[in-house]
Amino acid sequence: MTIRWCTSLFSAAWLMSSPVALAQPTAAPNTPPAAVSAPSFNATVQVRADRPGPVINRNIYGSFAEHLGRGVYEGIWVGESSPIPNTRGMRNDVIAALRKVKLPVLRWPGGCFADEYHWRDGIGPRDKRLRRANTSWGGLETNAFGLHEFMDFADLIGAEPYVSVNVGSGTPREMMEWLEYMTSNTESALAQLRRANGRKQPWKVKFVGIGNEAWGCGGNMRPEYYADEYKRYAAFVKQYGDESFVKIAVGPSDQDYNWTEVVMKQAAKQIDGLSLHYYTLPTGNWKAKGSATQFDESEWRSTFVRTLRMDTFITKHSAIMNKYDPEKRVALIVDEWGTWYDSEPGKGALYQQNTLRDGLVAALNLNLFNQHADRVKMAASAQTINVLQAMILTDQAKMVLTPTYHVFEMYNVHHDATLLPLEIQAPRYGAGADALPSLHGSASRDARGALHVSLVNLDPQRAAKLTLSLQGRGAKSVTARVLTAPTINALNDFQRATVEPKPLEGKVADGRVSVTLPSKSVTVLTIE
Ligand code: AHR
Repeated sequence: MTIRWCTSLFSAAWLMSSPVALAQPTAAPNTPPAAVSAPSFNATVQVRADRPGPVINRNIYGSFAEHLGRGVYEGIWVGESSPIPNTRGMRNDVIAALRKVKLPVLRWPGGCFADEYHWRDGIGPRDKRLRRANTSWGGLETNAFGLHEFMDFADLIGAEPYVSVNVGSGTPREMMEWLEYMTSNTESALAQLRRANGRKQPWKVKFVGIGNEAWGCGGNMRPEYYADEYKRYAAFVKQYGDESFVKIAVGPSDQDYNWTEVVMKQAAKQIDGLSLHYYTLPTGNWKAKGSATQFDESEWRSTFVRTLRMDTFITKHSAIMNKYDPEKRVALIVDEWGTWYDSEPGKGALYQQNTLRDGLVAALNLNLFNQHADRVKMAASAQTINVLQAMILTDQAKMVLTPTYHVFEMYNVHHDATLLPLEIQAPRYGAGADALPSLHGSASRDARGALHVSLVNLDPQRAAKLTLSLQGRGAKSVTARVLTAPTINALNDFQRATVEPKPLEGKVADGRVSVTLPSKSVTVLTIE
């Protein structure tokens, strides 16, 4: 048996599982999952409480809202005169949900849209704002939701704003003026304009993205060219308020290691954060990505195989960054991640439903970000509402929280906690190239000293009989919450919520925890 002092992959050939049958029969909504008929497997987890690692930056739990489909319009903005209950035009149900999940940071306005966005279009009296074609995603951009509305929304949900500025079709001057408008407390014309538009105090804005996907929709640039452009723009990111900006450079897509190499080599000194974008496509084929809701066990598994590539990408990009930034000053910022399926026609660009499978994808990615907390300091799920792997879906006045949302809520115990290494011994799930660890996890200790262990059981049939021990301290009590459902494609729609966290029973004896993790589940244990 191979034992690794890391929380990612582990192997135990003698425990290889045999192929299993597909989903269990559907149960009535809101009932606990049906009793597991397939045999369970045994697993052990050891938490190294004696080997604390880095702090898990809460900003790893961020999200991304782009002017795309029904993400901003309807998802956030309904207007002050809407019958949908709202605060200054922004829907109250969404505000309450994002407050509850403790979303720490929100990226805006794109995405590809950022490189066609001109911030002055979105300030001043709303009825006078320019309407423009949204050439990235279709439809008309009314600019009703502009800078002041975004800042108000970020404030209402308690998130820090992360603004992506236009490099592709903008200028350093436009960027400079935007930054000054937002953060200057002087009598300058731009600060006065902000005041005239209703905002007396400057906003606190820390995170500035210099362009988006410059290798693609942001300008089809070579890394050499972008690195030069980045340095030019970065030179004009001046400080107007109390704090200097955190400057985030466009980083690679998935395995484009050359991009990281070139940009870090040429510009590491001027960069505070380097972005990484990686989307999970179940098929790996952009022309037929796979359905959000109709999939079999083989696509269930390939989705996780592809999600776990994130580990390799982070590891390899970090290794390149280490060459140019051994002190780890430059953060890796995974500011677009999530599942991308074939979108549902007629529901807005990039709209897709969200099943239990997405909940598990979110949990795997968040476990990985926790594990790489030494380099990954911020991330943003794509996207927040009604777009791609959304946390929230709306249908006019109706709103539903997705399995992805619930995982973010369950995992918020890791915010700013100290990472603890985890050793997992469990059988593999599946065989051959598609074989996966059946259990995947991460652990942390919060400021009170409580331990939080988040564990994903990827096996769709077999529960895990888990014994968990702690190195360096004992366990006195355990509480647990689990997210699971009767079928692999269970989802929450506007009629019923089938996938919601529920309490799970665990026991403590002789300082060790025993708990049975249901098949296809995400569990978070809190151990005192
Ligand atoms: O999230 C959707 C799009 O995916 C973003 O606009 C772009 O940055 C990425 O390609």
